[in-house]
Amino acid sequence: MESIRVMFIGDVVGEPGQAVVARHLQALKRKHAIDMVVLNGENSSNQGRGITPKIAQAFYDNGVDVITTGNHIWFRRDIYPYLDEQPNLLRPANFPAGVPGRGVTTVTIKGHTVAVINLQGRVFMREQVDCPLKAADSLLAYLRDKTNIIFIDYHAEATSEKVGLAYYLAGRISGLVGTHTHVQTADERIIPGGTGYITDLGMVGALDSMLGMQKDTILHHFLTQLPVKFTVESKPPYVLSGVIMEVDTQTGKTVKIDRVRLIDEQPVDQA
Ligand SMILES: [Fe+2]
Ligand SMILES: [Fe+2]
Repeated sequence: MESIRVMFIGDVVGEPGQAVVARHLQALKRKHAIDMVVLNGENSSNQGRGITPKIAQAFYDNGVDVITTGNHIWFRRDIYPYLDEQPNLLRPANFPAGVPGRGVTTVTIKGHTVAVINLQGRVFMREQVDCPLKAADSLLAYLRDKTNIIFIDYHAEATSEKVGLAYYLAGRISGLVGTHTHVQTADERIIPGGTGYITDLGMVGALDSMLGMQKDTILHHFLTQLPVKFTVESKPPYVLSGVIMEVDTQTGKTVKIDRVRLIDEQPVDQA
C-alpha cells in the first residue's frame, strides 16, 4: 500500500507559537516521516489574532504545505491581498461569496493530488456563514474528478457540530480535524468509511494560559464583565498539538491516526 502521512497542527498562537513551530517542525517531520503539513494559523500574529504575509511565509519556509484559518482571519487587513494571491492560505469556504481568498486548495504530494478544505461552524460563532454541510457537498462535487484524497479543517466551537459534519461526510473524505477551541480532545479515531477524525487538534502556544492568552486579563473580564484587551502569554512551558493521519493513496481512506502533543520548556525570544 502506498500512503501519504499528513500532520495537522492546531491553532498557532502569537510569537511563542511561531517560535515553537520553527523550533520543532522540521524534526517532527523527519521523526514521523511526514509527507505533508497542514497548520491552522488564524491566531499566529503577534496579537494572537489573524496572520500576516511574513508569518505565513515563515510557516511555508519551515515546511508547512497548507495554512488553514477561521474566524480570526479577518483581523489583519494586510492579509487580504495575500489571501487572493496565495492559494495555499485558506479562509473558511462558507463565508459570503466575494470576500478575499478561497476555502479550498489542492497540492501535489508524492505525485498525488491532495485537497484541503477549510470550513467554519455556526453554533456559538458570531459570523452568519453558509450551511457547512451544504458547502461541503458542493466542494466535494467540485473535487470529484480531481482527487479522492480530501481533508477538512472544520473551525467550530460545538463538539456536536464537528462530529456531525464528520459523520455526514464519512466515506466521502479522508479526514476531518476540528480547530478553534484550542483544547485538544482525546477522541481521535477512524470513523466508518475510512475517515480520520478528531474533534479538536488543540493549539501551539503557552500552556499556562487561557487558550494561549494571558489568563489574568481574561479572569478580570470574567469577574467584572468589563471589556479587556487580550494579550498573548509568552512564558514557557509551551505545547504543540495536532494529529498525524496516514492515508492510502489508492482509496483515499485513512488507515491510521495518532495524536501529537509536544511540551517545550525552553523560553522563546520575544521581539
Ligand atoms: Fe483559534
Ligand atoms: Fe477561531
